Amino acid sequence: MSRLLAGPTHAALSPAQQAYLERVIRVDQAGELGADLIYAGQYLALSHNKKLKPVLKHMWDQEVHHRSTFNSLQGEHRVRPSIFTPFWKVGAFGMGFATGFMNKEAAMACTEAVETVIGKHYNTQLRVLTNNFADVKEFAADKCSDSKEIEHLKETIRVFRDQELEHLDTAIQHDSKNARPYWLLTETIKGVCKTAVYLAERI
Ligand SMILES: [Fe+2]
Ligand SMILES: [Fe+2]
Repeated sequence: MSRLLAGPTHAALSPAQQAYLERVIRVDQAGELGADLIYAGQYLALSHNKKLKPVLKHMWDQEVHHRSTFNSLQGEHRVRPSIFTPFWKVGAFGMGFATGFMNKEAAMACTEAVETVIGKHYNTQLRVLTNNFADVKEFAADKCSDSKEIEHLKETIRVFRDQELEHLDTAIQHDSKNARPYWLLTETIKGVCKTAVYLAERI
């Protein structure tokens, strides 16, 4: 049972809220695992590029932190991982390595596409957690306040969303728009990410 349901000072989540919360944690854990491995693949493929390495490493370190945060949330809330997890691992590393192997611009176009989709994805989650969880309150010393756990989750997503958007800016600053074929590359990767999000939310 989730801590949100177990906590005596919390209003219980409705079945729809509980299902949504599990979906958020499952898909975000899968997504951050994927992001960690995309950067791992890019870092390996571009390890000869001394100028780019620290830029990639900085973003990669942030993804490692995102991944471990959602790993913890997954354990705390006992959310089962996506059954496609082995596939996400191979696919993400492959996508990072392949674009890095093409060239630096292709790797940056990959980052631009991924972070565009993930930035919007996190914004959607923030909207739903704000609008559809307003009735989840906690009660202490006769005071009623917003659930600290929902607020904490929202703050986590907000911080990560901002970092994903920084990664997007970094990719553009490092010539993502010069990738060839830019449109095909970015639209294909956006399609892959949207499909992965759809599946990881559900299965
Ligand atoms: Fe991330
Ligand atoms: Fe990112």
